[in-house]
Amino acid sequence: MTLMRLIYASHPFGFDDLALSHILKTAQKHNAAANITGTLICREDLYLQLLEGARADVEALYEKIKRDDRHADATILVQETAAQRLFPMWAMRHDPAKSWMWTREQVSQGAVEAATRDEVLAIFVRLVAEQPGHLSGIPQSCPMSHSKS
Ligand SMILES: Cc1cc2nc3c(=O)[nH]c(=O)nc-3n(C[C@H](O)[C@H](O)[C@H](O)COP(=O)(O)O)c2cc1C
Repeated sequence: MTLMRLIYASHPFGFDDLALSHILKTAQKHNAAANITGTLICREDLYLQLLEGARADVEALYEKIKRDDRHADATILVQETAAQRLFPMWAMRHDPAKSWMWTREQVSQGAVEAATRDEVLAIFVRLVAEQPGHLSGIPQSCPMSHSKS
């Protein structure tokens, strides 16, 4: 199986705890069945999601997610093959956006969409590093066709 990593950013539409818990419940059920793992970073002004799994499964899921009307402007930031998963134990983890990520002003000015592959990946690597028993090392880049959605 070719393992693929896809990271996109989008902007929530009608964000609240209930909407988020519905998304996570669906994600955890579906992703476990499809052997997709990852994490969803959330804030009122930002979704930043990492999906990893078999290429066809990740691409099919992203096609569905980007049409979801609970967010808008989904933009792919990283799409590459990966040697290993960053979140192997998580059908879909939930992380609140942290203070060390972008400010609201930066988000509204498009800083997330303008970030490089390494800057975006560094956010997820830092999240992994903050959990106990983490794997070390920055994942190697192996770019695939990169398309803005
Ligand atoms: C920000 C965001 C992230 C989502 N992440 C996932 C996910 O990881 N897995 C998933 O199955 N659905 C996810 N969804 C929900 C899908 O868009 C979709 O509603 C869900 O998969 C149910 O699809 P279905 O009605 O075709 O079964 C997400 C939705 C949003 C808005």
